[in-house]
Amino acid sequence: MVDQIRILPQEYSRIIGRDAQRINILAARLVAEAVRTTLGPKGMDKMLVDSLGDIVITNDGVTILEEMEIQHPAAKMMVEVAKTQEQEVGDGTTTAVVLAGEFLKHAEELLDQNIHPTIICRGFRLAEKEAENILRSIAVKIDVRDRNTLKKIVSTVITGKSAETALDKLADVVVDAVLSVMREEAGRIVINKDDIKLVKKAGGSTEDTELIKGIVLDKEKVHPNMPDRVENAKVLLLDEALEVKEPEIDTKFQLTSPEQIEEVLRREEEMIRKKVEKIKELGANVVFCQKGIDDMAQYYLAKAGILAVRRVKKSDMERLSKATGAKIVTSLEDAKPNVIGHAELVEQKKVGDENMIFVISKDPKSVTILIRGGTEHVVDETERAIEDAVGALISLIKDGYVVAGGGAAEMELANKLDEIAEERYSGKEQLVIKSFAKSLEIIPKTLAENAGLDAVEIVAKLRSEHQKGNKWAGVDVFKGDVVDMFEKGVIEPLMVKLQAIKSATEAAIMILRIDDVIAATKLEKGKGEESKFGEGGEFSE
Ligand SMILES: Nc1ncnc2c1ncn2[C@@H]1O[C@H](COP(=O)(O)OP(=O)(O)O)[C@@H](O)[C@H]1O
Ligand SMILES: [Mg+2]
Repeated sequence: MVDQIRILPQEYSRIIGRDAQRINILAARLVAEAVRTTLGPKGMDKMLVDSLGDIVITNDGVTILEEMEIQHPAAKMMVEVAKTQEQEVGDGTTTAVVLAGEFLKHAEELLDQNIHPTIICRGFRLAEKEAENILRSIAVKIDVRDRNTLKKIVSTVITGKSAETALDKLADVVVDAVLSVMREEAGRIVINKDDIKLVKKAGGSTEDTELIKGIVLDKEKVHPNMPDRVENAKVLLLDEALEVKEPEIDTKFQLTSPEQIEEVLRREEEMIRKKVEKIKELGANVVFCQKGIDDMAQYYLAKAGILAVRRVKKSDMERLSKATGAKIVTSLEDAKPNVIGHAELVEQKKVGDENMIFVISKDPKSVTILIRGGTEHVVDETERAIEDAVGALISLIKDGYVVAGGGAAEMELANKLDEIAEERYSGKEQLVIKSFAKSLEIIPKTLAENAGLDAVEIVAKLRSEHQKGNKWAGVDVFKGDVVDMFEKGVIEPLMVKLQAIKSATEAAIMILRIDDVIAATKLEKGKGEESKFGEGGEFSE
C-alpha cells in the first residue's frame, strides 16, 4: 500500500540512500576515468568532436570535460572541480579530477564496510587538513626571481602537451613574459594575469612563438598611405567615431537643391578635417580608435602622416592605455595634450600572410605572447599549455614554495599521512584517513601506467624509497625508473598541489553527502520514467 503513495508529481524520479550514493559515485568515477589516460608527460591526447563536427585535440583536463557536455549532476560536480582548479591555479586540473575519483572509489569500499557517509566525510576533512600541513612542511622555498627555477616549473607544466616540441623555446617565452610584468608594490611581488595577452596566429612553427614587449593587435592600418612604422610614437586612444553622423542628414536637413547637398558635404568634410586638425594639435602620430574611421577621416589622417587603426576592442584599448600611458579620450574637443601616450615603436608587420599591429615599449607593463604553430589545433593546444604555465607561475610567485612532481609529493604525502593515522587516530576515523592516504597513490600509479610501465612494481618501489626517507622519489616516465624528481628538475608550485587535494576532497564529500536524488524526468525522450540518472556508461577497473 505504502508504495502507492506519491508525494511527487508523476514526472519526477527519485533515488534514495545507498542507491543514490552508488550511482553518483559511479558517474563521478566515470568522469575521472575519462581523463585519467591524459595525465602526465606520457598521457595521451583526446580528440573531441562536437555536434557541428568541430574538432578539439587536447590533453588538458578542464578542456576535455567542458567539451564533453556532461549531463549527470554528480559528474558535473567533477567538471566543477576541474574548473575551480583552472581558475584558482591554472594547472593541475587532471590531477584534481583523478584524485576526486580515487577518493570516491575508496569511499565506496568504506560504505561497503558499513561506515556511515558522515564518518567518511569527517575523516576526509581531517585527512585533508593533515595533508595540507604535511605538504607545507615538506615544501621548499625558492627564489621567485630565479629564471632557472621558473623555467623548470614551466617545463613541468608543458611536458606532455603537444606544445612540447618547442619546450625550451616556450619555457623561455613564458618565463620572460611573467618576469617582465612582475612588479614590486610595498615590498610584495604582484603580478596580474591580464597583463599577459595571448594572440594566436596559425602558420609557421611552434618554435616561432615569441614574446612581444608590448601589445599586438590583430588589425591593420586603415589607409594604405599611412606609415608602416612610427618610431617614438605619440599615441592617442580615442573612444569617439571619426565619422560623419549619418542620421543628422535625414533629420535636420530637407535637401531640395544640389547646392544644399554640396553645402552639407562641405560641412561634413569641414567637421572631419577639424577633428583631424585637433589630433595633430595634440601631437599624436598614432591613433587607436575604438569606433569607426570613415573614408574622409582616413584620407586626412593619411595626409597628416598619422598611422590609424579602427574598431579596437575595449579590452585592448585598456591595455594600450596601461602600456603607453595614454588616457582614453571620449571627447576629442575637450582633450588636452596630456592625454597622449608614448611607445618606442608602432609598426605594422606581416605575421604569416596577415598584417598585425605591434606596439612596442621599453619597459612594458603589459606584454603579448604571439603563438604560432602548424595548424589551428596546434596553436589552440599551445595556448592552453601556455595558459596553464602562466597560471602555475603566478601561483608560485604569490607563495614562493614548490614540491617535486612525478608523483613524488603525492607519494610522500601518502606515506606521512599513513604514519599520522597510525599514531594519532583510531577506529573508523583511522581507517578513513588511511584510505585517503592510499588514494593519493593514484597519481604516481597513473603516471606509470600512462607511460606503459609496470605500475604495481613502480608504486611498490616508490613506497619503499619514501619509507627510507627519500621524500622526492618519483616516477621517471622516460627512463621507467624511480628517481629523485627534484634532481631531475621536475618541480611544481605547492599551491597547485594544495588546491588539487582541496578541491578533490570537497567534491568527493559533496557527492558522498547526497543520499536522495529527486529529479524531473526528461520528457522529450518520450520514455516516461527515464531520468537523467543511471545513464552512465560501462565501467571497468
Ligand atoms: N618530466 C616529468 N616526469 C614525471 N612526471 C612529470 C614530468 N612532468 C610532469 N609530470 C607530472 O605530470 C603531472 C601533470 O600532468 P598533466 O597532464 O599536466 O595534468 P594536470 O592537468 O593535472 O596538470 C604532474 O603530476 C607532474 O608532476
Ligand atoms: Mg598540467
